[in-house]
Amino acid sequence: MIVDGTVADAAALVALDERNFKRADRFDRGLWRTILSGRVARNKLLTLVARHQGAVVGAIVAEFSAAAGRLVVWSIAVDEAHRGAGLARRLMADLVRRTPPAYTLVGLDARRDNARGRRFYTRLGFRQVTEIPGWYADGTDAIHYETSLDDLRRAIAQSTPGET
Ligand SMILES: CC(C)(COP(=O)(O)OP(=O)(O)OC[C@H]1O[C@@H](n2cnc3c(N)ncnc32)[C@H](O)[C@@H]1OP(=O)(O)O)[C@@H](O)C(=O)NCCC(=O)NCCS
Repeated sequence: MIVDGTVADAAALVALDERNFKRADRFDRGLWRTILSGRVARNKLLTLVARHQGAVVGAIVAEFSAAAGRLVVWSIAVDEAHRGAGLARRLMADLVRRTPPAYTLVGLDARRDNARGRRFYTRLGFRQVTEIPGWYADGTDAIHYETSLDDLRRAIAQSTPGET
């Protein structure tokens, strides 16, 4: 079940990050509360959480930049036990469904050493557009990926017959 995240999910999202990201790459509780409360960026940030038997097992966060017609995916994670079943793709699909039609581009960054994450994006048609040397706290490079929303919609529809 994929639903909108609320402030009540902050602790579960901190725990999700702890299970799935290196320490320096995690959002802390304060940042999660800010993201989820909408205080700073109402209508600019969307968090979707995937629940299994009541527990948060995955999430995606994105920022809507209306002026640029651009969606930026800040974070996506799925717990190990639930990976490989298309849950991250469903989170991405729900995010795309929630994106207003005027938006044209989607961008995101991945660590160079995150083979699984990068393969996931490549399968969805994201293209590597730049590299940012030493961007992450431990000195790892960031790879910046982009795709058009139209191409992403098509890639999701192809990988999930019947779901658009
Ligand atoms: C990257 C990540 C979000 C992918 O989550 P996921 O739910 O496993 O992703 P999906 O299941 O949609 O796709 C992953 C794989 O499962 C395969 N798959 C998708 N649906 C499937 C299905 N129904 N049956 C079998 N396999 C399936 C996909 O083809 C893909 O294969 P690949 O790994 O060989 O490319 C997850 O590995 C993760 O949370 N990693 C840690 C955090 C992270 O690195 N986040 C990204 C930061 S840039």
